[in-house]
Amino acid sequence: MQNRKGILLAGGSGTRLHPVTKIISKQILPLYDKPMIYYSMSVLMLAGIKDILIISTPRDIVFFKNLFQNGRYMGINLSYEIQEQPKGIAQALIIASNFIGKSSIALMLGDNFFYGNNLEEILIKTSKKKTSTIFAYEVNDPTRYGIVSTNKKGIPTKISEKPKKPESNFAVTGLYFYENQAVDIAQSLKPSSRNELEITDVNKYFLNKKKLNVQYLSRGFAWLDTGTFESFFEASQLIRTIENRQGIKIGCLEEIAFNKGWIKSNDLKKIIKDLNKSKYGEYLKKVLNNRWK
Ligand code: DAU
Repeated sequence: MQNRKGILLAGGSGTRLHPVTKIISKQILPLYDKPMIYYSMSVLMLAGIKDILIISTPRDIVFFKNLFQNGRYMGINLSYEIQEQPKGIAQALIIASNFIGKSSIALMLGDNFFYGNNLEEILIKTSKKKTSTIFAYEVNDPTRYGIVSTNKKGIPTKISEKPKKPESNFAVTGLYFYENQAVDIAQSLKPSSRNELEITDVNKYFLNKKKLNVQYLSRGFAWLDTGTFESFFEASQLIRTIENRQGIKIGCLEEIAFNKGWIKSNDLKKIIKDLNKSKYGEYLKKVLNNRWK
């Protein structure tokens, strides 16, 4: 089987964060002490995915290229594509079709934040499955999200996008593990009433074919999408509290690469030298000295 490939979708117009995003990409803005995209990138890396395509707007793609280059310094391979206009999350699958080839897929939205116990284990386990998986999380404002209902056996029965009368409180989060066929499905979709290729329609296809798993993320997890200033601030606060209390960092990409053995001590030393004087660099020094092992 081919390795699973990752797509990180970091485009969109960010209108809910105007005027800030009038001149800069939302996913570059800091969530506490790192650019937002670090957290979504960390999820793909924790899942063990090393080939990742970043998709962003014609205006913003350059920021990501400058930030990560080809990714080799973290032991991963990064490629870049442009989405000319925000025509829907499912369009990312079409834009990525050459990159994906025959592989299975992990699609991650650049504005989603996940944190919780055993996240890495859950991701790795799910990534090994041949069928598609969505991740569901209980929320108290279900009209804002894609919503999934399941029967008593945990088998999904219905998915709807931003329902006015939600049948459950379980939101479909912005992380999707798909079999390769998802590309063909995306290609066959028609735009929705909001003129987008809806990722919910891809999920519905797999659900109707009884080929969709739902992985629930329990209450011990934090899942936030950072589409509004409120959720942005909440995520920053949460990261700050945990990092300051525990002396760990959330979404530290070089640490993940080092712990996975994708980069060696000498590589990390070089990175630390470049990050000289920053707290991030100081933290990586601790990682290098294996403080927590
Ligand atoms: O966050 C999870 C939710 O994401 C799911 O529950 C929904 O089912 C799914 O449709 C999506 O909800 P939104 O409609 O709120 O997504 P939004 O338009 O805010 O886009 C999510 C991110 O993807 C955002 O950072 C911008 C980026 N994006 C979006 C579109 C439509 C793109 O890069 N290109 C696009 O064409």
